Formats: sequence, C-alpha cells, structure tokens
Amino acid sequence: MKRVGMLTSGGDCQALNATMRGVVKGLYNLLGGNVEIYGFEEGYKGLIYNEYRLLTGKDFSGILTKGGTILGSSRQPFKEMRNPDENGMDKVAAMKNNYRRHELDCLVILGGNGTQKTANLLREEGLNIIHLPKTIDNDIWGTDMTFGFQSAVDIATDCIDCIHTTAASHGRVFIVEVMGHKVGWLPLHAGIAGGADIVLIPEIPYDIDKVCEAIQKRTRAKKGFTILAVAEGAISKEDAKLSKKEYKAKMANYAYPSVSYELAELIKQKTGADVRVTVPGHTQRGGSPNAYDRVLSTRLGAKAAKLIVDGKYGYMVGIVNGETCKVPLGEVAGKLKGVDPDAGIIKEAKMIGISFGD
Ligand code: F6P
Repeated sequence: MKRVGMLTSGGDCQALNATMRGVVKGLYNLLGGNVEIYGFEEGYKGLIYNEYRLLTGKDFSGILTKGGTILGSSRQPFKEMRNPDENGMDKVAAMKNNYRRHELDCLVILGGNGTQKTANLLREEGLNIIHLPKTIDNDIWGTDMTFGFQSAVDIATDCIDCIHTTAASHGRVFIVEVMGHKVGWLPLHAGIAGGADIVLIPEIPYDIDKVCEAIQKRTRAKKGFTILAVAEGAISKEDAKLSKKEYKAKMANYAYPSVSYELAELIKQKTGADVRVTVPGHTQRGGSPNAYDRVLSTRLGAKAAKLIVDGKYGYMVGIVNGETCKVPLGEVAGKLKGVDPDAGIIKEAKMIGISFGD
C-alpha cells in the first residue's frame, strides 16, 4: 500500500486537476488500487495545519477538463516558511509531523517557482517529494513547458483577436496587458499568435521613443491601428538601470494601476493617438485546459506515478525535447527560466516587423 500526499500551491492554472488525475490514474493502474491519497487543502496551509481529505480514484474522475483545483490553493511565501506562524508554530516542523503522522510514502506537490523552493526545502528536511511544474508563466527551469501555459496563451490570444476588430474599426492604439511580472513567455507567445505589432517583455527593456516610432511607422503606412502586447512586468530602459531598492521605492509611489496605463499616457502625449488599455487579468488562468495542456498534464502525471511506484523521489517531472523526464529538485529550485533576448523566437518576430521597443 502506498500512501501519497498531494497538494496544489500558489496561483492556480487550468491544468492542475488534469495533472492530479494523471498521477492518481497512473497510481491506481500501476498499483492495482493499492494506494491511499491524502489531499491537503489550500496548498501548504493544509499540510501545516493538517487539513486534508482522504480521496479515492472516484474524486479524480471527470476532472480532466475542469479548471481550478479540487484541493484549493493559497500562496504561502517561501521566504516566510522558516518564520513561525502567528501562534508561534514552526511551520516546517508541522509539515514534517503531519507527513509522518499519516505515514506518507511521498508528497506530490504541484506549483510554480515559490512552491518548488518549499518543495526542495522539504526534500532537504528528509521528506520524499515529487514536484510537478505548474504555471501560466512557463518560467520553471529544467522543463521546456509548464502545464497551464498553453491554455493561458490561448486565452490571451483570443483577447488580442477580439481587440483587433474593434481597434481596426476605431483606428485606435490598444494595449493588451498580459500576465507575467518577471518573465515574458506569455505576452511573447500570445503577442505573436495574436498578431500584435509591438511586444514588450521584462527581459527586453523598452525605449518609449522606439515604441512611439513603431506606432507612427504604422500610421504613416496607413495601417490605421496598432496593438501592443505588454507584460505586467514590462520595464523601460531607464527603470531597468535602477537598483532593486530604487525601483521598489519608485513603484511604491506609482501613480498608475499598472505599467500599461503609464505607457498609454506617454503614447497619447507623444503621438496624439487615441489609446485604450485592456487587461484580461485572471481570465488567463481560468476555464478549461486546452488539448495541449490535457496531454502534457496526463503525461507528466503518469511519469510522476511511475517514479512513485519505483520509489524514486526528490525530482521535478518535466518535459524536454518532447519526452518526460525526472530532474533533480535540488538542481532547479530557485532558478527562473526567462526569455533570452537573443533567442530565435525573438529574432524571427523581429524579422516579420514586430517591435520590442528596443
Ligand atoms: O504566477 C502566475 C501569475 O498568474 C502571474 O502571471 C501573475 O503575475 C500572478 O500570478 C498574479 O498573482 P495573483 O493571483 O496573486 O494576483
């Protein structure tokens, strides 16, 4: 009998349920049903405070297409994990105690970068851990793709598609703000897929004059409208030169709801264009996983099940060059996979005239 704990932590995405289903179906098939699943609720919170449900294969039936997470999720920042909670409780010790109390063979943890760091901490503390890379940001080192990313690309692309028709009717400049504070995979892919004219991502700081030049070039060519796909974390060349502390201080007194609104005002001032901002926000994390993510999640889940059956722990399950693989957690935890400004995808986008404002 294998006793497997499971939790989903951090911001959700479309394919969390599909991935858990893959793990559990795999375990049931490989172990002939000799498995007990402890589903900890709302991420690490459930593990810390021993809030869990005993689940069976039935709970994972019919959830392939269901967005969100049947376990619930919460953000429990890694940097606070070593700090006691408001009642003075040692959170790491509590997680270890609950793991031991249920005599778990392992803990399957689905989450992004922060979640992965805590997963690695628990591994270092002696727990058997399998991590599955979830995030619409696709910024996890050691895997070509994270689940949730392609579904989010579809939604952000749909948003840009819709904006296209209204932007064309009114001859406007539209900024579509796409999720991604630290990395720009999502705005880059959605921008290309949606035919955006300008794509601004954190990895390539922009020059506002270059952005305006790209808009005016289209106006001179009688294009009538311009669409910008802008990452939440897009940053100007001047701001990129600030130290972390200086930038934080600047943002503390920031007059705009987000970078897109500042950009809109600057573009208006410099070009006289009629500018609008659209923020699809959390819709990008909602709804059903797309077909790509359903396949990816099922594969990653099945691979995780196999590792558990074989008793191989301490890994993230990733996909590299189309094949699932196990990546030592200690080698990837804390590393961010950003867009390389010299990557082929950027060069190709530039070849067809997309401006990155650089
Ligand atoms: O990490 C996933 C993500 O959706 C980011 O793209 C986004 O910047 C952030 O989470 C939003 O976080 P929250 O849901 O806490 O507002």
